[in-house]
Amino acid sequence: MTTALITGSTAGIGSAFARRLAAQGHNLVLVARDTERLGEQATELHDRHGIEAEVLTADLSTDKGIAAVEARLGDRTHPVDLLVNNAGFGNKGRYLEVSMADELTMLKVHIEAVLRLTSAAAESMRSRGRGGVVNVASVAAFVPRGTYGASKAWVVQFTQGAAKDLAGSGVRMMALCPGFVRTEFHERAGMGTDNIPGWMWLDADKLVAAALADLARGKTVSIPDPRYKALMGVVKLTPRGLLGGVSSRTGRKYGPQ
Ligand SMILES: NC(=O)c1ccc[n+]([C@@H]2O[C@H](COP(=O)([O-])OP(=O)(O)OC[C@H]3O[C@@H](n4cnc5c(N)ncnc54)[C@H](OP(=O)(O)O)[C@@H]3O)[C@@H](O)[C@H]2O)c1
Repeated sequence: MTTALITGSTAGIGSAFARRLAAQGHNLVLVARDTERLGEQATELHDRHGIEAEVLTADLSTDKGIAAVEARLGDRTHPVDLLVNNAGFGNKGRYLEVSMADELTMLKVHIEAVLRLTSAAAESMRSRGRGGVVNVASVAAFVPRGTYGASKAWVVQFTQGAAKDLAGSGVRMMALCPGFVRTEFHERAGMGTDNIPGWMWLDADKLVAAALADLARGKTVSIPDPRYKALMGVVKLTPRGLLGGVSSRTGRKYGPQ
């Protein structure tokens, strides 16, 4: 039996990864900040699928939290075969409307935690000659969209570079780039979603099924939906200035909700 560690497992895309991987018979290490919610999730997945689900409470915006997950990933007596770096969040507001503290917290969770956890996992996986890392980025990586988009662009570039460096080692690396997904993300960030057209919303379970199929195929960047594949094709051909105007408005409603 293999083991998958998922950060941000208790809600949205992370919980869809946990459901799907448990249904496929993988043991899980579930990581988030809310211990009670983690415990309930572990019990439910164990009871439903007969897998072992370990709980690891960690705040990935802190050194202590990142170090705790690094230590688990480095434990060679209980190896982790698949790491899903999924924990993340949005800040409401454009550049200079978001506090510096919140911007830095985002960089800690979206960049430092992803770098450190990927590296801890990849070291151990490389020595065993197998393993996989999925880093959840966003299609926002491809458009000008504040610190959020910039941090996700880092995730894509970093993952592609690491995948190249690890080619032939047996370790697969993939950046997952979803479009808008119905999760707790927008509500947590206090963002309005009224101006996001219905066709742009993705289902987390379908997204995860497609992402895992892409990982099995050996893709290093996954945009797992035909609508967003087409949209990103258009984005490549659109002048950056025009792109910035559209992307900075969509899904970033300001003022009282
Ligand atoms: N939803 C979208 O439209 C969308 C689109 C593209 C990309 N994404 C990306 O997908 C990933 C998952 O987002 P989601 O939409 O599933 O969000 P979500 O529903 O809000 O879930 C976020 C998860 O991350 C955990 N988390 C948040 N901050 C954390 C921290 N500091 N330390 C540890 N865990 C933390 C949360 O649990 P606790 O609060 O208990 O810690 C929760 O389990 C993110 O990286 C996001 O940027 C989302």
